Amino acid sequence: MDYLMGIDVSTTGVKALIIARDGTVIASANTNQPISTPFPLWSEQDPADWWKSSLNSIRQVLMQSGINGEQIAAIGLTGQMHGLTLLDEKGIVLRPAILWNDQRTAVQCDEIRARIGRKRLIEITGNDALTGFTAPKILWVRHNEPDIYARTRHILLPKDYVRYLLTGVFAVDCADGAGTILFDLKTRDWSPEVLKALDIPLEWLPKTYESIQVTGTITAEAAALTGLKAGTLVVAGGGDQAAQAVGVGAVRPGIAALTLGTSGVVFATTNGPFIEPEGRLHAFCHAVPDRWHLMGVMLSAAGSLRWFRDTLVPGMDYESLIAPAEKVKAGCEGLLFLPYLTGERTPHPDPLARGAFAGLTVRHTRAHLTRAVLEGVSFGLRDSFELIKTSGLTEIQQVRVSGGGAKSQLWRQIIANVFNVELVTVNTIEGAAYGAALLAGVGCGIFSDVDTACLHAVKITDTTSPQADEVENYEHLYAIYRDLYPALSEISHRLG
Ligand code: XUL
Repeated sequence: MDYLMGIDVSTTGVKALIIARDGTVIASANTNQPISTPFPLWSEQDPADWWKSSLNSIRQVLMQSGINGEQIAAIGLTGQMHGLTLLDEKGIVLRPAILWNDQRTAVQCDEIRARIGRKRLIEITGNDALTGFTAPKILWVRHNEPDIYARTRHILLPKDYVRYLLTGVFAVDCADGAGTILFDLKTRDWSPEVLKALDIPLEWLPKTYESIQVTGTITAEAAALTGLKAGTLVVAGGGDQAAQAVGVGAVRPGIAALTLGTSGVVFATTNGPFIEPEGRLHAFCHAVPDRWHLMGVMLSAAGSLRWFRDTLVPGMDYESLIAPAEKVKAGCEGLLFLPYLTGERTPHPDPLARGAFAGLTVRHTRAHLTRAVLEGVSFGLRDSFELIKTSGLTEIQQVRVSGGGAKSQLWRQIIANVFNVELVTVNTIEGAAYGAALLAGVGCGIFSDVDTACLHAVKITDTTSPQADEVENYEHLYAIYRDLYPALSEISHRLG
């Protein structure tokens, strides 16, 4: 049994990946699934689609690799965080899942703060109540769909619904569990105090595990559907951000991870349950036992560039889109982009925040606008980077960048200049699924621990250093960028 599998139930699709015990990627398969926005601010998916995509990707990856299910030693799961999946007593899904980027729950966030007290909530869970998290979604269903709530018996996160169908077990890892804000950050388990205050039954929640622990095994039924072997170990794995961090080796203080996916994330490991007292940064459990992390999340990072491309030049490849932006000078001749296309979390937890191009003149071409998008996202991510640096809770010596946006050398250079930090890329570019496969390797004993797995598998491939004169330019521009959200906030709210 020489291989490991990672399965990532992401928003855009489900990826299944097979690696060998030396960390080499053997094959990967991805199956996309739709996302629906039935009303403004809503974002939902049908859990049946996750399952269909999972079955397809698992079968595909086994077929492509020529590897037999019997050769897989263990499987690790990861996926989009915070999504609410409700099941009845028979395990039947009760409504579409409400996703991490759904913004409908501002009222329920206020209710949570009122019931627990904002300060106490941050003390226990490490976080303020934000629309993206799971707890306000549960309260939303209780208020708006009482019949569904009355039939609810199980609450699961997206990847854990797939786990349930693969193993028959209700389980969650601490990293993803913390993202519900029903978790006690210190004990790494459900918080009786928060559950009582919100009147949510503990019995509805899955059993909690560390990311490297085995949660169950593949059932005979799932084996027949997938080609996996019945009895294969399934480890807890982790929410996608923690698993992604494992996948790039950001598992100890000093090494931060920057992910340029649909969302943009700045992630830093801590050695204790450290909390930013104002709750401006997320504080969750890491996928490594006895470690935690701080994180800033931008909702539309590479998602902003995708929107820009799809809206202005549908079908164009990103290389062709970005190439002309290289010739535009830093600052785009006085053009700034505010990337809040789907509201924002860090540093402005504001579901009604909106995007903007500010400073347009007739001199601006598509190349200027493209570069402004790259720069605006980089400035927004610097907000999170600054919060982590100035929190005094952890040090950062190196930033490991990954995700689709990190393929652009220009974008990496802009970020290195905006952050004034050395950015590195690593050989492991398969993201969270790769991290989940490494966690599976620890769970079944191929690696002794997560640090060893990362040292073994993750190597630095490229370094982008900041350029002194550009750093100075961007310092000046960042100050203007920081004034843009407050200047537009009232107008955005009126428009929204
Ligand atoms: C993290 C978050 C997103 C999703 C994306 O807090 O909400 O990064 O996990 O999959």
